[in-house]
Amino acid sequence: MFLRNYWYVAAMPQELENGALLGRWILDEPVLIYRTADGEVTAMRDICPHRSARLSAGERDGDTVRCLYHGLEFGPDGTCLRVPAQDGTPPNGLRVQSYPVAEKWRLIWIWMGAPELADENLIPDFHWNDDPDWFPVGDYMHLDCHYQLLADNLIDLSHEAYVHRGTIGTDAVSETPATARLDGEHVTVERIMPGCPAPPFYRKLKGYDGTIDRMHRIHFDPPATIMIESKSTPTSSAEPDDGLEYRVLCAITPESELSTHFFWAVPRNFNPERQVTEMMYQGSKAVFEEDIDVLNRQQEVLNRVATGSDWQNINSDAGSVYARRVIEKLLTTEAQAE
Ligand code: FES
Ligand SMILES: [Fe+2]
Repeated sequence: MFLRNYWYVAAMPQELENGALLGRWILDEPVLIYRTADGEVTAMRDICPHRSARLSAGERDGDTVRCLYHGLEFGPDGTCLRVPAQDGTPPNGLRVQSYPVAEKWRLIWIWMGAPELADENLIPDFHWNDDPDWFPVGDYMHLDCHYQLLADNLIDLSHEAYVHRGTIGTDAVSETPATARLDGEHVTVERIMPGCPAPPFYRKLKGYDGTIDRMHRIHFDPPATIMIESKSTPTSSAEPDDGLEYRVLCAITPESELSTHFFWAVPRNFNPERQVTEMMYQGSKAVFEEDIDVLNRQQEVLNRVATGSDWQNINSDAGSVYARRVIEKLLTTEAQAE
């Protein structure tokens, strides 16, 4: 079960280049996404209403999509425009359902719920990804696990000390207790780490050789938007240029009950140089690959030995337990409203 009346990231703009017909399963529904000649992004159900072939396997003729099974043609709003060997208007009601889409913060968002509720003001604030004072990197990754395992992972960063030992993790992260707060549907987890050793990746990025004052603040909003504030400065340095500050913007989109799309971006406000951008991209990607390895194996265990109901909570789970409670409650609310 998934929450529907929310904006989810469906694609990165690069995926729609060169007239691509992108077929992607979102919340267990096949969706076709493409950009029309005037630059607008459109999304419709990726199922031909004739015999259920995937439209994304079809071809474009301008803005029209032709199903390459029996040749029916559909406009960007999903209306059937032509049926081969059938003169006149195609049968009434022969159309494909379309979805509201929006392009914001250099991402393509989709609304899988009631179209009349799709309000672009509800798109999560990822402005750092489209701000001249911040230098972003980002990418798309696919996971073979339920989306909440990834949300749990990003809300509780104590795992950095173990999973990311060679990059961003130090014992200070796991040994410093975090505080977790629930405000309505918003969860905040904060960990303040004064005077701790710099992790290997930070030493490489900034040449830190002494201790640093480090801070993580994680924000969760349903269904699975996570924004992490990360800030570090050499201990007792008053020089603002010495600091290392970035955001980790995470848009998690369920593909199915057992697989997940992960769109991430890491904008920073220091060292705009290209080689630092490349280091941030490669470093972030390597860190997420380490997470994905754990999460895919975790899902495999859950599939084969259903242990999820026996999980034992520890203090650092507070944030992810709050987030799961929020989702439970909202799923009930959405189900009752239907
Ligand atoms: S299934 Fe698409 S035209 Fe027949
Ligand atoms: Fe991680």
